[in-house]
Order: sequence, then C-alpha cells, then structure tokens
Amino acid sequence: MESIKQQIERLRAELHEHNYNYYVLSRPVISDFEFDQRMRQLMELEASHPEYYDPNSPSVRVGSDISNRFTQVEHRFPMLSLQNSYSEGEVADFYNRVQRALNEPFGIVSELKYDGTSISLVYEEGRLVRAVTRGDGTKGDDVTANVRTIRNVPLLLKGDGVPAYLEVRGEIVMPWNSFDALNEEREEQGEEPFANPRNATSGTIKLLDSREVASRGLVSYVYNVTAESLPSDSHYDNLVRAREWGFNVSTAMRRCDTLEEVFDFLKQWDEKRKELPVMTDGVVLKVDSLVQQRNLGATSKFPRWSIAYKFNAEQAVTRLASVSYQVGRTGAVTPVANLDPVLLSGTTVRRASLYNEDAIEALDLYIGDQVYVEKGGEIIPKITGVDREARFMLGEKVTFIRRCPDCGTPLVRNDDEAVHYCPNSEGCPPQIKGRIEHFVSRRAMDITMGPETISLLYDNGLVHDAGDLYLLRFDDLVHLERWGETSANNLIESINKSRAVPYERVLFALGIRFVGETVARKLAHAFPDIDLLAKASEEELMAVEEIGERIARSVIDFFAQPDRVNLVSRLREQGLQFALSEEALATRTDKLEGLTIVISGTFELHSRDEYKAMIVQHGGKNSGSVSKKTDYILAGENMGPAKLEKARKLGVKIIDEKSFLEMLG
Ligand code: IVH
Repeated sequence: MESIKQQIERLRAELHEHNYNYYVLSRPVISDFEFDQRMRQLMELEASHPEYYDPNSPSVRVGSDISNRFTQVEHRFPMLSLQNSYSEGEVADFYNRVQRALNEPFGIVSELKYDGTSISLVYEEGRLVRAVTRGDGTKGDDVTANVRTIRNVPLLLKGDGVPAYLEVRGEIVMPWNSFDALNEEREEQGEEPFANPRNATSGTIKLLDSREVASRGLVSYVYNVTAESLPSDSHYDNLVRAREWGFNVSTAMRRCDTLEEVFDFLKQWDEKRKELPVMTDGVVLKVDSLVQQRNLGATSKFPRWSIAYKFNAEQAVTRLASVSYQVGRTGAVTPVANLDPVLLSGTTVRRASLYNEDAIEALDLYIGDQVYVEKGGEIIPKITGVDREARFMLGEKVTFIRRCPDCGTPLVRNDDEAVHYCPNSEGCPPQIKGRIEHFVSRRAMDITMGPETISLLYDNGLVHDAGDLYLLRFDDLVHLERWGETSANNLIESINKSRAVPYERVLFALGIRFVGETVARKLAHAFPDIDLLAKASEEELMAVEEIGERIARSVIDFFAQPDRVNLVSRLREQGLQFALSEEALATRTDKLEGLTIVISGTFELHSRDEYKAMIVQHGGKNSGSVSKKTDYILAGENMGPAKLEKARKLGVKIIDEKSFLEMLG
C-alpha cells in the first residue's frame, strides 16, 4: 500500500509533468477532467496532512488568500534594460558595431520581445525559491507567492544538468483572451478597464491576494539563463536546455549568421506576431556566444551585445484635419479627431478618440498639426502626441466646444467628471434618436429597424420617442421615400411582436443610466412590477445584490422625471410588459440561491438569454466572466478557451445544459 506521503508525492510529480505537457509543450496527455480530479485529490490529501506542506506543490497554482507583503530583494546580477531601435538602419548599425568590436565571426539570436513585466526567477537545487520583479534594476519586489500561481512557471525543474543555483529571467504577460475576459469583468463591475495587457500584468503581479492572481491567466516566457556554470557557451543552446528543464521558452527564436537573416526574422514576425496569443512589441537581438557577450560588456545602462528592435507599425504620424463631437443617447459629448487616412497595423485609420476636454488641453492641439496616432493594444486608436517641430501654417487651436453641436444648448460638466453633457435630453436629436436606437436594439425590444429608419421617421415627424413607435400606422410608412408595402408591413409586425418582450428587457430598453441587461434583470426580479420599482427608495434599491449607490440614484432620477414617467405609462397603455409574467412569478424558486453561474458557448435546448433569465429566476447570479467567486459554468458547445482555462485553474465545476435543467428540477 502506498503511504499518504507517497500518494502526495506521486500526485505532485504527475501534476508537474502534466502541467509541463500542457503549458510548455502544448501537448496534454490527459483530459482537463482527469487533471482536475487529480488536483482535487492532491488538495484533499494536503488539507488533511499539513505536515507534508510544500511551497512548490502544484496545488499552489490556485493561490491563497494570505495577504502578500512584498519585501525588497537585491538582484544578484543587475537587471539591465535594452537600447531601443526603430529601423533596419539602426539594427545594421548595431550589427556593424558588434562586428568591429569583436573582429571575428559571431551569431545573433533573434527573439520576440514580449510585452509584460520582467521577472527574475531563482532556483536552488532545482526548486523555485524566489521570484523578483525588475524594480529599479538592482533591487525589486519579492512576488514569489504570486508567481507560483502562474501555470507555466516550473516549480521543480526536471532533466539533467540543472545548475545548483540558477537564475532565469523572462517576461510575465497576460494573453489577449485573459485580458479581454478581465476587462469585461471590470467593466461589468464599473471598474476602469486596463488600457493594454502590459498594464494589466503589472497590476496583477502586485496584487495582495494570490488567488486573484491565479485567476487571471498570466503566463511566462523565459529569455535568459544565468548560473556559475551553464551547459553551453551558446545563449541559444542554453535556452533550448532551459526548455527541457521545464521553462516556457518561445519557439519563435532563431540563430542568425548574417544581417539578412536578422532582417528576415524582423519582417516575418512583424506580420506573424499578430496571430500570437500574447502581445509583443518588438524583437530582441543578442550576440549568441556568452564569451563574446562578456567581451563586449555593457555601458552603465545597456549591454553592448544586445538591442531591442521595436515594431513601428503601431504608431503613425498624420495630419489632424478637424475635430468633431458626437452626442450619445445619454447626452455625453465625445470629441473625435478626424485624420488624414493613415495605415496603422494593417488598417486604415481615419478617426481617433480624444476622450475629453482635459485630454485635448494636455495635447495642446491645433488643426493641421502632425499628430502621433497609436494602437498600443487599445481597440480605438488614440492620439499620443504632436510633432511640434512640424508646425507651420497652423489652423485654429482646438478648444472644447461650449454648446451642443446638434442643438446648441450650453454643455454642462459635473465637478467630479471629465465628461461634458448636453442637458437638453428632450430636444436634442442625437439623444432622442440614440434612445430609440437603444430601445429597439436586439437585446432590448428587438424591433427590426436601423438608425437610418429611425432618422427618417424622426425627420418626418412621425416618431419623437419610443412611445410613438406603437402609434405608427401602415399609411404613415408606405408613403415614405423608398418604402413600400412589404417594408411597412414588416416594421409594423416587428413592433407588434415586441409587445410580448418580457419585463426585464423592457426595463433595459428604457435606457436608465447604468442599468444594463444584468442590472435590469436583477431589478425586475427584486421589483416584479414597475410601480414597485418606481416607488423604491435608495435603501430598498441598494438592498438588491450588486446594486450600488450610483445605480440606485440613477433609477430614482429616472422616475423623478415627468416625461420619463409619462413615457412609461404610454408604453404600458400600448400593452408592453411592465411586470414579471405570471409564469415567471409562479416558477420563481431559490434553487440557485447564492450561486454564481457563468454561461459560455452555444446551446441546443434554450438560448443563452433564456438561460440567463432562468438563473436569475431561480435566485442565482449570472456573471459574464469566470472568477474565484464562480460556482458553476453552464457550458454549451464551443466554450471560449479563456473561460475553460480559467475554470480549470480555479477548479470551477462545469455543467452542461441537461444537468443545469435537472438542477432546476
Ligand atoms: S533580454 C540584458 N529578451 O524587454 C538583456 N528582454 O527593454 C535583458 N523583454 O526588461 C533583456 N522580451 O522585460 C530580453 N526576449 C527578450 C525579451 C525581453 C521582452 C523585455 C524585458 C526587458 C525589456 C528590455
């Protein structure tokens, strides 16, 4: 019989191996399910036998809630940074400098430059003992507990020839899919999203709660090994060995013997990197031989044997043609820069966000300015600077408008906000049209009509708010320009059908500020009739899970406006649903009370929206992204890889639609 200790050791060894197969080789040999089972078994044994605690057990990957404190640790070798270069010419200069200095044959290793946070990992006798951030280059923060949760950081090294004291350096990065999931979750919770994966990574690695770190799906790429004695004089060969020891070393590296080969690598990866799961911002070139590296030495800041080449397509310079202002349905005014078209990472950019008045002031912009446009992992390109040298024959200085561009009403700006609003919500056309667009949208009333139709109806005086839609008659429509009987009938039919849309979606359609789909669903279930909602006090509203002061205030404001109340009663007269249906009320249970469920994938028996509604109807909570608070994932076909990965890490239970429906009986 295997003793407990032996069982624990066996499971640990197995799980280390499976982690390596999965995260470094991308060749798993067991299913996720089997992996999870073994992990759970190990964790149970460890919990009942704390005497066998090991900080490098694979179970530490889930993190712990013991708050981290980051002590400062001195680096044994300083962590230098690299000189940047931006053109082939600068790369050629580097190559020629190296050639002159060495005056003998040399190889250059080309690697990708991963964009995250650099880390130093120290292994003693093959065990991870410390992980330290770069800090100021001479000392950094000890973030070991957090780094242990990163799946492809080996905790125990394998294979032979591992130096007794080994320090490896690499980059910790957040893959795009984890980044997207994290931002989705943050936006849902009203938190500011991270601008790019780099910021998200550095924010995550310094979190106090390592369980939260574990849930964010960070990965590592190792790009350097140092030890008293290494297997080879070749940096490239040492990296290949490091891969065998268990480190995640990118396969996107190449030993180049000529400058042409280097250029070839640059060209190839400038394109191919767009298919990578993580953000890269350039290529790092390194003299391959360690002896030659030592001979070349370093300046006070940079090594002379290495240089970074930054991909430059991410930034472009173009002329600011004009600034326009968009008014949204809430009245928020957004400044947009109109640019002379310019190619930026494969797409033609004509517009860029200018955010708000403060951002414009900070740039000190003039019409006609040559501006830098960047797509640094952000979705909408932004203007990051102005080429002041290139200024002549400038147009006017850009100053934020004082009046609404559409209706001329003086704008207001709240003290604590950077955003300007047009207060004329009842008379300002883009706000009116925007509200109707929201009202008819697919997830709200699902009436088939696009923005052009809405404009047309508004301009013809037929529709001034959502209530007017239900008064439209065939004769009103059929005579409109380019309309005919079919289109008129279709629209009327679509409008009629919307009368059956359930209460919670009607509530969402009303466009109350901060009341998104999820909040609407919660409110509908907490206040199953709109009259109850309209009368609710701030305290009553805030008693509902996840409804905070901001949302509560906004609901109260909405029902304090006579025209909004009037709209609600007109819609009610038209037969729209303003209460939970008898059926929804009758079938309400608390079977899912206290459970947080994430829906992912596509389903056969019900739609996603129906499942969302069911969760709330049975007292559960539906959340958009997997976190440590998730109890179940209701998974259909093609569940997103980010969610699967996260679920696996956190040991969240995954159920299919049949088991879910069984839970509800
Ligand atoms: S080598 C002395 N290789 O880029 C050599 N760095 O600007 C030190 N980085 O701080 C770095 N990928 O965080 C190297 N393949 C790679 C890299 C890489 C990303 C980061 C690293 C470093 C910064 C240098």
